[in-house]
Amino acid sequence: MKKQVHPAIELSLVVALIIAAVIFVWNVDFNFSRKEKPTISKPTPTVATQTPSSANDQWLQGKNLFKSNCAACHNPKADGTGPVLIGATARWEKAGEFKGKTGKQWLYAWIRNWNEPVEAGYPYAKEMMMMRASVMNVFPQLSDADIDALTVYTEQPDLYKSNR
Ligand code: HEC
Repeated sequence: MKKQVHPAIELSLVVALIIAAVIFVWNVDFNFSRKEKPTISKPTPTVATQTPSSANDQWLQGKNLFKSNCAACHNPKADGTGPVLIGATARWEKAGEFKGKTGKQWLYAWIRNWNEPVEAGYPYAKEMMMMRASVMNVFPQLSDADIDALTVYTEQPDLYKSNR
């Protein structure tokens, strides 16, 4: 007395076996590609990650210089004892060349010692000096690189988040 397996059950067993085989093969394959992955993705970029962090460093340097030298009188975003500083670079550039120096060079001279462009007769500086009752301190110790950093910060004080 042979027990007959119902054809439908037999068929589903075969299908299940095929599915199991496919999953097995697929898994092996999947594992293979996983094993190879670390060697493929190993090279790490060196140049690409340095650019944003050095830009961030300059901004941070500017922020620190600003806090220790300028914040007593200036808020980059609003008028206080000193005027708002966002847009100052553009204002000096627009004021233009005078005695062989560009507006930006006169701005740098102003930040170091405001008397210099005033005494040279640079019209925008003379106008600026009359603007407020108080005057700026002088900062002869600031290098061009310091002032580069300062202006990067004062033109975009919210460019980065920093608690430092
Ligand atoms: C003692 C207060 C004081 C300090 C400190 C000070 N400033 Fe000023 N700043 C002023 C005043 C006031 C003016 C407006 C000009 C004037 O009346 O002499 C001015 C004007 C300026 C201007 C011209 C703005 C424009 O729209 O063209 C710039 C740029 C500037 N300050 C940058 C700085 C920087 C950068 C520092 C820090 C290194 C600094 N100031 C420190 C008071 C100050």
